[in-house]
Amino acid sequence: LIDHYQPSGSHSGPIMETGKYFVTLQQLTGTLALAVFTAALGSLQFGYSLGVINAPQKVIEKHYAKSLGVWSERSALSENGTEDDGALDAGKHPSVIMYWSLSVAIFSIGGMFSSFLVGFVGDLRGRVKGMLMVNVLAIVAGLLMGLCKMWLPHIMVISGRAVMGFYCGLTSGLVPMYIGEIAPKAYRGALGTLHQLAIVVGILLSQVIGLDFVLGNDEMWPLLLGLSGAPAVLQCILLPLCPESPRYLYILLGKEQEARKSLLRLKGAYDPTPDLEEMKREKDEADREPRVSIRSLIFSSVYRQQLVVALMMHLSQQLSGINAIFYYSTAIFERAGVAQPIYATIGVGVINTVFTLVSVALVDKTGRRTLTLLGLGGMCCCAFAMTLGLKLQDSFSWMSYVSMSAIFLFVSFFEIGPGPIPWFIVAEIFSQGPRPAAIAIAGCCNWTSNFIIGMTFPYIQKWLDCYVFVLFGVLLLGFTVYIYFRVPETKGKTFEEIAAVFQKGRKIPKDSVELEQLKASTDA
Ligand code: GLC
Repeated sequence: LIDHYQPSGSHSGPIMETGKYFVTLQQLTGTLALAVFTAALGSLQFGYSLGVINAPQKVIEKHYAKSLGVWSERSALSENGTEDDGALDAGKHPSVIMYWSLSVAIFSIGGMFSSFLVGFVGDLRGRVKGMLMVNVLAIVAGLLMGLCKMWLPHIMVISGRAVMGFYCGLTSGLVPMYIGEIAPKAYRGALGTLHQLAIVVGILLSQVIGLDFVLGNDEMWPLLLGLSGAPAVLQCILLPLCPESPRYLYILLGKEQEARKSLLRLKGAYDPTPDLEEMKREKDEADREPRVSIRSLIFSSVYRQQLVVALMMHLSQQLSGINAIFYYSTAIFERAGVAQPIYATIGVGVINTVFTLVSVALVDKTGRRTLTLLGLGGMCCCAFAMTLGLKLQDSFSWMSYVSMSAIFLFVSFFEIGPGPIPWFIVAEIFSQGPRPAAIAIAGCCNWTSNFIIGMTFPYIQKWLDCYVFVLFGVLLLGFTVYIYFRVPETKGKTFEEIAAVFQKGRKIPKDSVELEQLKASTDA
């Protein structure tokens, strides 16, 4: 496992200090890969559920109309028209609109509530058992939606989406928490980004499977929705093979031997002493403080700076307007003059996935701060370019290419940094004590702002018309400036080093000597 020895000095990759030498270790073991893959199945399910509801809208509305008894009445109106006209009509019936909007929105409402419970579930029996337990919700949700034709489809789907949202709120916190705690520090960014990668793959998968000639049709749509519970079955089989988070075992339960075993399983044959020592210091610190609940974290001045950074990162992700693109891309592409908007939407899904992969490759080299700034700054420029394109497309036909390219670039910049980084940076900037509570608060902020954008975007669009992205442009500029001044780099730092930066409001210590000096001055 040991790649090579090199004298202290310039080095890259995962480093462990032994005496005079730094030993570069290959710490990416099969068990670690299995654990990250298994956890990310939860994120895949989250992405799938985010995307699945878009493509089959008209088909589902038709079935709602039928079960609500408004189908015949409406389709009679379009007697001379086609079945599609009937579906179009059905979609305009007030009760169908209401049940449809509820089916979409209830997902975020479920997530808003459950994200608050992430800390409780994660601490109850551990991260692994927590993920295992909540899979019951995903399976129930999948069954409710998959079997919706057996009873009133609109009620079954709405219940299924609510339960699935509840599940996804939990998973969107538990997955980054577990991955953040088991990842070797040199790969924490790349492995953390896999949560977002699985989300975007889930979105893409649902867009492709949702095409009408695959499952997005009259017969198969319940299966399309029901499949969102399928990864939970695989996850239930694999989770018992995954080691529990060593940080949970040691810092929370005080089980040093079990933590050591878990470290060895995750990182292979290496000397876990420095990792255990770091955890011991964190445990001592955590033992000195009272337990950090959500309430105490909100009111504590000790963690204020970290909490504001965490919330701003999540707000910048959602208020960037990314989901306005995802939820309404088909309509936006139609406006930009695209003939086959559904394929352009799938194109967005592909770009989304490709650039998340770019982020996986860059995040531990370039750093979180740089990629977030680059991403937000780029998105800001794209928002203004999009506005220009939409405004001038009637005067110059080539302007629609400007809006199209701006949309694709907007998504690319998002996935480089502002998409993946907020999900895992919260686990990085908080130590073990307040981490679960912090993830819960940040997750709730994410889900709430996502819900608000989803609900209000059509109205804002109506109000601002082609200037709607100016609003996001201005917000993006504000977030870029905030992050430039307030967010430190966390790449390659131990949790202890990151905590020290926030405690002292000073620059990151370069090495362990500087860290010791920082700690001595804190104690003094
Ligand atoms: C992030 C966001 C989510 C968005 C997705 C798009 O995971 O949290 O709201 O839909 O990125 O890729």
